[in-house]
Amino acid sequence: MQIQMKGIHKAFGSNQVLSGVDFDLREGEVHALMGENGAGKSTLMNILTGLHARDEGTILIDGEETYFANPKEAERRGIAFIHQELNVWPDMTVLENMFIGREISSRWGLLKSNEMKTLANEQFKKLSVDIPLGVEAGECSVGQQQMIEIAKALLTDTKVIIMDEPTSALTEREIQKLFEVIASLKKDGVSIVYISHRMEEIFTICDRITVMRDGRTVDTKDIPETSFDEVVKKMVGRELTERYPARTPSLGKTVLEVKNASRKGMFENVSFQVRAGEIVGFSGLMGSGRTEMMRALFGLDRLDSGEISVFGKKAVIRKPADAVKLGIGFITEDRKDEGLVLDFSVRENMVLPSLKSFTSKGLLSAQSEKAFVDALIKRLQIKTHTSETSAGNLSGGNQQKVVIAKWVGIGPKLLILDEPTRGVDVGAKREIYQLMNELTGHGVAIIMVSSELPEVLGMSDRIVVVHEGRITGELSKEEATQEKIMTLATGGQ
Ligand SMILES: Nc1ncnc2c1ncn2[C@@H]1O[C@H](COP(=O)(O)OP(=O)(O)OP(=O)(O)O)[C@@H](O)[C@H]1O
Ligand SMILES: [Mg+2]
Repeated sequence: MQIQMKGIHKAFGSNQVLSGVDFDLREGEVHALMGENGAGKSTLMNILTGLHARDEGTILIDGEETYFANPKEAERRGIAFIHQELNVWPDMTVLENMFIGREISSRWGLLKSNEMKTLANEQFKKLSVDIPLGVEAGECSVGQQQMIEIAKALLTDTKVIIMDEPTSALTEREIQKLFEVIASLKKDGVSIVYISHRMEEIFTICDRITVMRDGRTVDTKDIPETSFDEVVKKMVGRELTERYPARTPSLGKTVLEVKNASRKGMFENVSFQVRAGEIVGFSGLMGSGRTEMMRALFGLDRLDSGEISVFGKKAVIRKPADAVKLGIGFITEDRKDEGLVLDFSVRENMVLPSLKSFTSKGLLSAQSEKAFVDALIKRLQIKTHTSETSAGNLSGGNQQKVVIAKWVGIGPKLLILDEPTRGVDVGAKREIYQLMNELTGHGVAIIMVSSELPEVLGMSDRIVVVHEGRITGELSKEEATQEKIMTLATGGQ
């Protein structure tokens, strides 16, 4: 299948999002779509697949003008879209999720679950993943949910698959598997639109790249004819300096001390400390228990045993409110579920945890609130039409920035950042790193859980490595290397 999109324009209200985008997709190619957060990548693909209507422009599919009325129509024509924010239904089983809206039933309307199971298992086998079909999808890891969506897209006779940041929650092994799957799909003539902020991936598996900036196409090129630097420059419209800002930490008192913390089946005998002004990176494979440790620290889950002290005093953290009172902020890896209220405005989301400070004698001071919100929007360069826009209408990367802003607002003593730059573009990543430096400069302690090794190495003062619920090693900034971390993370010595 060939697709040509020409001169696409789109505005949401008075917010002009696309102003003349050209994009063409050839049969059997992997075509990267890159651009900063809010550049319009997801919107362009939503227009192609009929979720939004274009204001202007033409779309040709195999040479014929085609406009889908909704994503279902696009799917029927063989265009599948795996969204950036996963779309699984947490209360339904894996199998139900895969066949939602296209259940196989007999002539009398009876569901043929065995047939569906066989088909589903075949797809999982192709992807080399092992996910039980009967469990609720909400019980699966984010990585598994991603795989469920990919398998689901492969169930139908698909000619084009749009993958919007497919690897942001996958493990190294799952990513390799996905690349193999992409290669074999390509051989079958399937075309793939690959949206990602990870440059390395794009140069590994894509044939061509289209760079977008501010709702326009900047350029389309064959991958061998371009370079990292050229792509970054086109994306941000300027040369970008170093990826990680220099850090000169000055460490203060111990802010947090965890002693022998355990939670059955999740982690065991975890002990570590974090000092004021320090960034401690938590490295480990997906599912190693890092997130579970942080959840317990923040009072989302209970500890079975162990002790937590904050500033040398034993702390009792039974619920998140206890943690917030102690000055602990938590930026979750799953922004859709726990980080953000999508129906609330950007402003409402940002002031949620710090509502108290804007209330004097029970009255909310609208003015100080607005000043606070505007300052954060500016500081983090959050691309939002106004502070009253609903968070759900922001691009994925900008939603992440709102989550960060929200916790920075409480004036935290300790910030736990779980995958803080997932889905965030290069420019904004640097903004987040700089903000981390600024916070630690003011004595805030930071725990950063990250699956991106370069980020862990680039930003941490100390690195704690986790393997199967246990801390297997601690490395200073000086001694840490990718190899050492990987060895410890996989259980080696
Ligand atoms: N339904 C909507 N209503 C209003 N504005 C929207 C809507 N969908 C997207 N936008 C706006 O359109 C712009 C482009 O968003 P889009 O999601 O396409 O960006 P993106 O390039 O995919 O970014 P990211 O890399 O962060 O995912 C953003 O400013 C966003 O706020
Ligand atoms: Mg997007």
